[in-house]
Amino acid sequence: MYPEAFDYLTCPRHPEARLALEAGARYAVDGAILRGRVRCPTCGARYRIAAGILDLLGPLALPDSPAQLTNYLPLTAWGYERIWRPRALTLLSGEPLGYDRELPLVAGLLAPGRGGLFVDAACSNGLYARAIERARGGIPGHTIGVDHARPMLRQARAFARAQGLRISYVRAKAQSLPVAAGSAAGVAMGGSLNEIGDADAALRELRRALAPDGRCMMMGLVGARGELGRTLQGALAAGGVGFWPLSELNRRMAAAGLRLRAQWRYGVVVFSLLVV
Ligand SMILES: C[S@@+](CC[C@H](N)C(=O)[O-])C[C@H]1O[C@@H](n2cnc3c(N)ncnc32)[C@H](O)[C@@H]1O
Repeated sequence: MYPEAFDYLTCPRHPEARLALEAGARYAVDGAILRGRVRCPTCGARYRIAAGILDLLGPLALPDSPAQLTNYLPLTAWGYERIWRPRALTLLSGEPLGYDRELPLVAGLLAPGRGGLFVDAACSNGLYARAIERARGGIPGHTIGVDHARPMLRQARAFARAQGLRISYVRAKAQSLPVAAGSAAGVAMGGSLNEIGDADAALRELRRALAPDGRCMMMGLVGARGELGRTLQGALAAGGVGFWPLSELNRRMAAAGLRLRAQWRYGVVVFSLLVV
């Protein structure tokens, strides 16, 4: 957590009430807040910062599905970017789709050089948050990564620190982003809508967070066309991972108030640029 995050962070119950850091916080040499408490001025709710991560969910928040449960496991968080993520889109799309193609696309669509707040929603190890922060290039603003799995956020923070990137990580639900309406210059969601739980609520929340000239970049997986792919996706659906046909994804994004500006499809992998 960095102090500049408090220019943007709001209470999950009162999304227009800016959270305030209470006195007595402990800081690292780079200015990161390692430990402390924040308070909502509207309802008085208090939330903890521990190990540099703001927790807006508390110990009683549980995953909704087996798929979400796996992301609460420290081993998954450890292996996610070390093993799976660098190969994931190539394996899923059936064509070379490494970080060398993906991350410039993400940064190019979101254009962080415009400055302001950027949110990586359901960020896992923070791959997109780091790409955004690197592309910001010192322009004023801040990048916040949100996920509901604490081990994912711990790993995300470690990766960002190792690269000298000032990114704040917050434990929260994608359906209840801790930012004010219309405050985000950009919102990214990479591969998470498929397992997010209430996907329509998450889409509406992305729309709520976006500034009038904001951009939303969504990477997601759609229903497979082939027999094998459909069988695999059917098995995953039992664990809480859903795959809509592209037309259904587009219909739901539009219903949430997100207007499609451009879209790229590589097999089941789809990148969408959305505006309000
Ligand atoms: C496929 S991974 C995300 C990948 C990441 N965006 C990337 O591109 O590497 C899905 C992530 O979504 C998170 N997640 C799932 N449902 C969530 C929810 N309702 N709120 C917040 N995070 C959620 C999981 O904890 C997991 O870290």
